[in-house]
Amino acid sequence: MTEHLLEVDSLSRNFGGVKAVNHVSFALNPGVIKAIIGPNGAGKTTLFNLIAGNLRPTSGAIRLNGKNVTSLPDYQMATLGVARTFQMTRVFHGMTVLENVMVGRHTRSRAGFFSAALRLPYMRREEQGILQAAMKALDFVGLGLKSEQPADTLPFREQRLLEFARALATEPRLILADEPAAGLNTRETKEVAALIRKIHQSGVTVLLVEHDMSLVMDISEEIIVLDFGRKIAEGTPEEIKRNDDVVAVYLGKRGIDA
Ligand SMILES: Nc1ncnc2c1ncn2[C@@H]1O[C@H](COP(=O)(O)OP(=O)(O)O)[C@@H](O)[C@H]1O
Ligand SMILES: [Mg+2]
Repeated sequence: MTEHLLEVDSLSRNFGGVKAVNHVSFALNPGVIKAIIGPNGAGKTTLFNLIAGNLRPTSGAIRLNGKNVTSLPDYQMATLGVARTFQMTRVFHGMTVLENVMVGRHTRSRAGFFSAALRLPYMRREEQGILQAAMKALDFVGLGLKSEQPADTLPFREQRLLEFARALATEPRLILADEPAAGLNTRETKEVAALIRKIHQSGVTVLLVEHDMSLVMDISEEIIVLDFGRKIAEGTPEEIKRNDDVVAVYLGKRGIDA
């Protein structure tokens, strides 16, 4: 039996009467790139929030390497090797590019971001480790030379790369990327695709939510389709393209133009 990196078991999350995620189950093997697609409001971001520990499920279970991690908060999930990027790219204003990445890395440090300001000796040692991990992540995404620049002066595509660097600096085993190509042009989307491949090649498992079908079909090995909170299909890109339910429910008359 293969050891799953992640198992999502009949996971549900309601908001009042809305079943945003409705009994979704799937498993993720280490080393794959898997995509979650579906129309707006299908529950993709909510599913990410549940897995990353930003939101607690109404019912169901999440296991990481067989360990029950259901309802653990995001900083504990980060400690266990789960990082995510956000659909809305977040830049902390008044901070340099490097400081923006270090904010992410502090989430899995013993000292934490605010107590690090006290600078006790073990915290200073930890600070060095955080600095190194942050610089390594910036080099990895190609922003190494911009580390001292105010982050809010970066063009949008580089802010997206910064979002990846922040996640990578926590040295994750699993990265959840929520619509990484949103707002990017074709060339920039290819750049993000290349970065995701590079992340994958470095040994990190990737779970991706994305609207850009050509990107999804291009880089994913497996695809899950959500509709109204339910999983309606799962398979390879070829299987998904041929799936009548997917074409009918998700893509309507347009078909998959990938
Ligand atoms: N914090 C929230 N409070 C209330 N309803 C929410 C909240 N987050 C998401 N929803 C609802 O849950 C459903 C799924 O949303 P979401 O996960 O953002 O979908 P997607 O990312 O696939 O577009 C939608 O109907 C949305 O309005
Ligand atoms: Mg979303």
